[in-house]
Amino acid sequence: MSSGDRKHASGGAVTVSRMRAMKREGQPLVCLTAYDYGFAAACERAGVDLLLIGDSLGMVVQGHETTLPVTVDDIVYHTCCVARACQRALVVADLPFMSHTDVEQGLHNAGRLMKEGGAQMVKLEGGAEQAALVERLAVNGIPVCGHLGLKPQQVHKLGGYRVQGREQADAERMEADARALEAAGADLLILECVPTPLARQLSEQLSIPVVGIGAGGGCDGQILVLHDVLGVTEQPPRFARAFGAETGSVQAALAAYVEAVRAGTFPGSEHGFEA
Ligand code: KIV
Repeated sequence: MSSGDRKHASGGAVTVSRMRAMKREGQPLVCLTAYDYGFAAACERAGVDLLLIGDSLGMVVQGHETTLPVTVDDIVYHTCCVARACQRALVVADLPFMSHTDVEQGLHNAGRLMKEGGAQMVKLEGGAEQAALVERLAVNGIPVCGHLGLKPQQVHKLGGYRVQGREQADAERMEADARALEAAGADLLILECVPTPLARQLSEQLSIPVVGIGAGGGCDGQILVLHDVLGVTEQPPRFARAFGAETGSVQAALAAYVEAVRAGTFPGSEHGFEA
């Protein structure tokens, strides 16, 4: 049985419709990045709902300064490793920098992440300008997670890693982008480094689940980079919490993260950004 078949056979697997139901029921979605089999298995055991093979692997696994050098082959390889460990968690793979510059290229590469990697959803950075691709992916049966706010693939355009959406015009653009992604058929949205009130407002407005990272406690779920949670990152971002430093083992750190997100004790106000 392939990992996909095993998941299909297990009734408790996290799916797109399950995530929507969780939003309706007010159950926080607990998400983490993962890049390999061993840590993905530990995340599974801890009850993490969604594992993202993020292009953050360029920084935390490969040691680059940005996510830009990551290739589709890199994401396929790491997605294969993670997917083998997953019975319940939804496996989401990132479309890296320059892998979706037009609809045909994006469709081809998203297909690779699904067919070769075993992903169950793809993530892409961008808003309304990505709507045509999101629509095409959706009609081809590929679930999509949008990514707004701080888009690390645009770091050189942005001039650094900064909170996004503080100015009224930027906040309005983000709201329009979020609506465009949802209308195009996106199933999930990640908001990165967005003021807490704006992220809360977007989560309330959209019917798809909104998962925050550095976006405060008003989202439908939370995601962090695994290395930040475990306390491996030398200079972690202010919005992260090193559960590994507070607990005795990897498994205990993951359990503490899951528990804190479900209980609403993470993120605290100190992890968010005001308008
Ligand atoms: O690449 C990544 O890990 C991400 C998360 C930070 C959301 O995009």
